[in-house]
Amino acid sequence: AFPRPLAGRRVLVTSGPTHEPIDPVRYLANRSSGRQGHAIAQAAAEAGALVTLVSGPVAIPNPPGVTVVRVETAREMLAAVEAALPAVLAVFAAAVADWRPAEAKGAKIKKDGAAPPPLTLAENPDILATVSGMAQGRPGLVVGFAAETNDVIAHAQQKLARKGCDLIVANDVSAEGGVMGGTRNTVHLVGRDGAIETWPTLDKDEVARRLVERFAGMIVL
Ligand code: C5P
Repeated sequence: AFPRPLAGRRVLVTSGPTHEPIDPVRYLANRSSGRQGHAIAQAAAEAGALVTLVSGPVAIPNPPGVTVVRVETAREMLAAVEAALPAVLAVFAAAVADWRPAEAKGAKIKKDGAAPPPLTLAENPDILATVSGMAQGRPGLVVGFAAETNDVIAHAQQKLARKGCDLIVANDVSAEGGVMGGTRNTVHLVGRDGAIETWPTLDKDEVARRLVERFAGMIVL
């Protein structure tokens, strides 16, 4: 029989970008497609898990067999994540905007011929760090992603320490690789014990299946 290592277990996945409003018609965003996060949610569901996928705005379909909560902003994503816990496994694959416009205007900003308006930014909550640091109800395995354009491994190691998660899945998103928005991915697993594993370039669906298998093996049930 097909192994279902996560049968009946609750799993949380974040995916996609966030949109941070400037005014009712404009926002700050990034190039995340949600493909890798959505594929992980689907693979976890196929492994038998009860999956909640908290997704920013994406143009790809909802994965089958998954409860999808759609959000726009980082702050909405944090609230949806907290509402979706507890879970044995939480995978933070979303490309959350680090900053948001400090003040979202209630009406469209007009081009009135004067100088361009200044854009003042405020820091968004760090969802991964928040969940990693939970005193009570922390998921048994907390996985972060690190999208980097250079020094991928070193940055991932620093991120692991700073965020307090258990594992970082690092990938190179420099433009030449075509990872952002593309269908294939090359990942490095960076663990707390300092072990680094580099996987071959694979379809994001295959990366997802292998990751879920790996996560399932790390969860102490
Ligand atoms: O620091 P950086 O944004 O590169 O860290 C990436 C990891 O942190 C990803 O797992 C991402 O989902 C998560 N993250 C988050 N909330 C933020 C920023 C990043 O959950 N505000």
